[in-house]
Amino acid sequence: MKKLLLLALLLIASSLFAQDQLAATPPMGWNTWNKFGCNVSETLIKGAADSMVSSGMKDAGYQYIVIDDCWQVSRDKDGNIQPDPKTFPNGIKPVADYVHSKGLKFGIYSDAGTETCAGRPGSRGYEFQDARQYAAWGVDYLKYDWCKTTTQDGPSSYSIMHDALVASGRPIVFSICEWGTNKPWLWGAKVGGNLWRTTGDIQDRWVGKEKWPDGSCCSYGLLDIIDAQVGLESFAGPGHWNDPDMLHVGNGALTNTEYRSHFSMWAMLAAPLMAGNDIATMSPEIKEILTNKEVIAVDQDPLGIEGRRVAKDGDLEVWSRPLQDGSRAVILFNRGAADKEITTQWPDLGYPAHLSAQVRDLWQHKDLGRTTGKFSNHVPSHGVVMLKIAP
Ligand code: GLA
Repeated sequence: MKKLLLLALLLIASSLFAQDQLAATPPMGWNTWNKFGCNVSETLIKGAADSMVSSGMKDAGYQYIVIDDCWQVSRDKDGNIQPDPKTFPNGIKPVADYVHSKGLKFGIYSDAGTETCAGRPGSRGYEFQDARQYAAWGVDYLKYDWCKTTTQDGPSSYSIMHDALVASGRPIVFSICEWGTNKPWLWGAKVGGNLWRTTGDIQDRWVGKEKWPDGSCCSYGLLDIIDAQVGLESFAGPGHWNDPDMLHVGNGALTNTEYRSHFSMWAMLAAPLMAGNDIATMSPEIKEILTNKEVIAVDQDPLGIEGRRVAKDGDLEVWSRPLQDGSRAVILFNRGAADKEITTQWPDLGYPAHLSAQVRDLWQHKDLGRTTGKFSNHVPSHGVVMLKIAP
């Protein structure tokens, strides 16, 4: 009996370990929703895979091409989920094969309730059948949403789908998307989640929570999302990440300075980096933001410690995270309307004041020299200075 119990515990531990290995660093990729909404198709996905390679994003570390909502229309008489025959005339498998042929990975979307947020069939009651189907198509990543779940229990619903993914026999990254409703940071890793959304949907907006057209709460601006991460840092780590939602970098409502802040803060937060713009037509400036290898290296640091806000004086903030090589990634963040100077003090970074350290600017790609005790820099309105500070 004892032996059986031990074996069961070992099996559970090893399946959670295997699941963790799927996202040892935060997943990076591209998702259709933020730019294209329901306008998804075989052509769009294949084009995105091509652009991922030709833009240099693949070389910079982006891997997953994920179709969000609206690829599915119905179930057949046996309950098998059916892709929209107009937009995916050849089904899903050839699309996944194409993505794989580019050396990339393929992701898809479903919902724990009876319907997705766009009113397409959800997976409730079909979890094992759907997971088997995804595995047969070659799916590597599942984003699993929370619409039309009425009285369903959060942890149990996500646990069932995770069991189904494991039973499918294919390693599939599991992205929990229930908007922070049931505090998924407390149970997401236990049910095999590799990432969990912490808030309502991000909008291409600097600040402000806004009600949805149906009166429900809320979509989030960038600053609202960032503030909602404070206090959640310790729940993230290799294999299981807080997800402050996908990127809006390049979607047009913000300035490039603001998009640089967005991207830098996501790297500070060890967030999944899922681009959400039209990568086929992006400007060179946006491409440069999304492919900044020094900033991406912070996001992907193997230690996997999420950054924290270590100092705040009104609109002026300092954020920091320790990196594996003993250095610190530091962001001087000016949320206000006027350009300002921001200073970071070594003790706020966990360094003694007498320590001399090398400062490097990760956007200018430039060493700024050695300094002791503190470092100050001019920071534009809504901008960041992102640094690596190494003893
Ligand atoms: C929810 C999710 C979004 C997106 C849409 C699709 O709002 O939070 O990220 O997947 O559904 O309908």
